[in-house]
Amino acid sequence: RDAPLANTFGINARARRLIDVADVDALPMALVDAGRDALLLGSGSNLLIVADDVDAVVHATDARIELIETLGDDVRIRAAAGVVWHDFVMHTLTQGWYGLENLALIPGTVGASPIQNIGAYGVEVMDLIDAVQVHDRATGETRWWSHDACGFSYRDSVFKSDPQRYAVMRADFRLSLIPHANLGYAGIGEELQAMSIDEPTPRNIADAVIALRRRKLPDPLVIGNAGSFFKNPIVDVATADGLLAQHPGMPVFHAGDPSQRKLSAAWLIDQSGWKGHRDGDAGVSPGHALVLVNHGNASGAQLLALARRIADSVHEGFGIHIEPEPRLIGATW
Ligand code: FAD
Ligand code: EPU
Repeated sequence: RDAPLANTFGINARARRLIDVADVDALPMALVDAGRDALLLGSGSNLLIVADDVDAVVHATDARIELIETLGDDVRIRAAAGVVWHDFVMHTLTQGWYGLENLALIPGTVGASPIQNIGAYGVEVMDLIDAVQVHDRATGETRWWSHDACGFSYRDSVFKSDPQRYAVMRADFRLSLIPHANLGYAGIGEELQAMSIDEPTPRNIADAVIALRRRKLPDPLVIGNAGSFFKNPIVDVATADGLLAQHPGMPVFHAGDPSQRKLSAAWLIDQSGWKGHRDGDAGVSPGHALVLVNHGNASGAQLLALARRIADSVHEGFGIHIEPEPRLIGATW
């Protein structure tokens, strides 16, 4: 059926054929029928649609969650691609399966969660993913990929680099029956203190993360956006140190690899004067410099043009290249 193409940026686009797949085991065949160019869509929360419309869109609605096995203090939980991510997080907490609490309220689906290795508040989904069931649209093969085969890194995976090729059908998560509080990320401790909680349960941590996110990030139901529009740039230590010498207030984070550092794209954009900027209906959130927003009727092309101007000005000011985080549909960076 012809339908609007759902996307949290609120870009006006249509799918000429929208194919809902209720049983994820039918996804491979649905993708074959829909054709090579068909877009596999979750909730549309990490897309910038630059095309006017898309011929075929396939959407998995299968929302099954199963306990596969208990392994000592751990459990293996299987979720189908169509499970809404935040519902999944809350369901696991209700069951006493812990580990996903810091990832509460991230929009999207379980199927999309491994694609860019979603992360927030000191946890990345790769920390909890055991295996992913993937249909390879190039070879027609469906198999389980181990955690290591997925090539996860910051906001990246093997799947993200070839988005038309891989369809995630299910993911297995290894969660714990014993809570392990992860309070390292700035802000969570303060939020819990404000809630007068000294010994937080995983549910308390999820509530703190939800409160922080509601305060910091614009709600797509109120103003269109796709969360962070740019990835935080990873640079070598010498580059970070050089910039830090010129800008002593600049935030610098560890990047996992000791020879690298992660810079804050929000800070670079903010310092370049873009926060709250508006070109017609395409703008930068006044509350968070990393979030591009659609004030009403911006097109994907207008938002992309603004993003390019921002990236160019950050490069001119700091010599750093920043790159989009969402997938661009109908354009390349
Ligand atoms: P979509 O936007 O529908 O698709 C994104 C990409 O994944 C596309 O390439 C699509 O083809 C592909 N895809 C979708 N489903 C599948 C599947 N089953 N198999 C293979 N490929 C698939 N992200 C974070 O990491 N951390 C955050 O804190 C965060 N905060 C956000 C806050 C807001 C307000 C918004 C709007 C977005 C935020 N995001 C965040 C981005 C977004 O939530 C994630 O990228 C999410 O995983 C996207 O899920 P989706 O189902 O909406 O994917
Ligand atoms: N900052 C500014 N100006 C701003 C906003 C932030 O200078 O307008 C600076 C502050 O110094 C702050 C730093 O940027 O300390 C980092 O900001 P924040 O804690 O909001 O995190 P972020 O780097 O902007 C990342 C993720 C988010 C995730 C949060 C929390 C990326 C690209 N973004 O944002 O993910 O929710 O951390 O962990 O890594 C997303 O991917 O869509 C997303 C929202």
